[in-house]
Amino acid sequence: MATIVANKEFTGNPRRQLAKLFDVSLKLTVPDEPNVEPLIEPGKFGDYQCNNAMGLWSLIKGKGTQFRGPPAVGQALIQSLPTSEMVESCSIAGPGFVNVVLSSKWMAKSIENMLVDGIDTWAPTLSVKRAVVDFSSPNIAKEMHVGHLRSTIIGDTLARMLEYSKVEVLRRNHVGDWGTQFGMLIEFLFEKFPDTESVTETAIGDLQVFYRESKLKFDLNPEFKEKAQQAVVRLQGGDPVYRQAWAKICEISRNEFAKVYKRLRIELEEKGESFYNPYIANVIEELSSKGLVEESKGARVIFIEGFKIPLIVVKSDGGFNYASTDLTALWYRLNEEKAEWIIYVTDVGQQQHFDMFFKAARKAGWLPDDDKTYPRVSHVGFGLVLGDDNKRFRTRAAEVVRLADLLDEAKDRSKAALIERGKDKEWSPEELDQIAEAVGYGALKYADLKTNRITGYTFSFDQMLNDKGDTAVYLLYAHARICSIIRKSGKDIDELKKTGKIALDHAAERALGLHLLQFAETVEEACTTLLPNVLCKYLYYLSEEFTKFYSYCQVNGSAEETSRLLLCEATAIVMRKCFHLLGITPVYKL
Ligand code: ARG
Repeated sequence: MATIVANKEFTGNPRRQLAKLFDVSLKLTVPDEPNVEPLIEPGKFGDYQCNNAMGLWSLIKGKGTQFRGPPAVGQALIQSLPTSEMVESCSIAGPGFVNVVLSSKWMAKSIENMLVDGIDTWAPTLSVKRAVVDFSSPNIAKEMHVGHLRSTIIGDTLARMLEYSKVEVLRRNHVGDWGTQFGMLIEFLFEKFPDTESVTETAIGDLQVFYRESKLKFDLNPEFKEKAQQAVVRLQGGDPVYRQAWAKICEISRNEFAKVYKRLRIELEEKGESFYNPYIANVIEELSSKGLVEESKGARVIFIEGFKIPLIVVKSDGGFNYASTDLTALWYRLNEEKAEWIIYVTDVGQQQHFDMFFKAARKAGWLPDDDKTYPRVSHVGFGLVLGDDNKRFRTRAAEVVRLADLLDEAKDRSKAALIERGKDKEWSPEELDQIAEAVGYGALKYADLKTNRITGYTFSFDQMLNDKGDTAVYLLYAHARICSIIRKSGKDIDELKKTGKIALDHAAERALGLHLLQFAETVEEACTTLLPNVLCKYLYYLSEEFTKFYSYCQVNGSAEETSRLLLCEATAIVMRKCFHLLGITPVYKL
């Protein structure tokens, strides 16, 4: 039997590497079933398990097989498994699971390799080359609310994880910068500031208040309403004066959004709804020529199986809407930007909109029929952020919470906690500020990312800023503590990395080592399921495994010092990578 030498590409991904080995043994064991995929999972008894035997048995039992039940199939899988330095032993458990115990030596070697070659060598490789992540996407002149904050945080993390997995990501801010509301905003601007050229941000002041005032006037004053409606026509017809006023309003909003992005260190490129406007007519034309578009009550619509109401693509007044823009943006992303995976991050309330226009796109033949084959679209829905009263998160005055205020409070509270611990006497004011930001914003992001995004969560500063439990504060502390263990050793860790050897002899060392090695497969899973909480859970367990290791195994001054310091360093590196992928800035002391 040929020995498969640890393939460099997979040394940091035992699950993948095992899948390769079991793929060989599956083909040898059941040559008549060439399409069976290896099912490898982290194990309950061994380190990993292969779950193919039971399924295979039901596939072959009627076909005159030599095997007598799933355990025998499992046994045969073990026998045909190519020998590899990564596998220590295999055994059969229960109805036919194949338990795999990894070689501790191989595990240690893989971690040593990562320390030398860098954590990027552990990055998973996905089969997609280019993806669009459409996230944040607030609406001009309307409030950017907590829902947009969720979209911003989740979208950024997904983009980071995909980027790490070598996917080129187009980070798109699909801002709502087009639509009928601009008519009233522009007219209101003209009334308040006849000399629009000179209008500045400060003159308009609060754009949300400006929006509310103009809406009030629109609702109460028929003359103004009439003017506003004409303004839309002018704007959409390209009248330069109206275009300029529109651009001004957009710019003011954009500057507001940019402040939030800057504080949260979020990068994204604006391609708002207006960007797609010039392409819409052609796209609707294409859909019509394919026979998809019908007349209904004066509007032009696409009927979709399973939905009672059709998707409106041209309103009865001839205007385009959210759906026509999204169809066009999809067309653009597929054809002009050549994206293979297009990911939309919005609240679950928009699920139906996405379901419908995805189906319309399938009908048009833009996308394959099944939703696993590329090019592919995914709606990443998330639940509501709730207040203490279990209702939608609002301020005491029942107003929408301003994101800037939220960020201020997160920072202020974490700063106060640091001062309480006397850190203002230890650190410079700049350091105190930077760390307060890292902790405060990190806490906000982590609290959002750690639960399955589909469910909502209750917003609580007290909870997210707690230094115990599953919080960013706790995790940042854990990381800082590891850094201090390494510092206190007085050893040059970069030198140790080059020559030092790791041994995973103690059960707690081995458990930590195994968890470290499961980093890549976790990122891969978080990418394929589009669930950031998978990575959060991994990170939390990593700190737990580390705590166990540290309580059982003396590091500094022990005979195993070098090996254990290297394990500390590997843990710190993986933790930092997790922080990076979650958009959290790590701190080295706390
Ligand atoms: N502007 C929309 C909103 O605030 C979100 C846009 C999401 N992206 C999209 N392509 N539809 O609800």
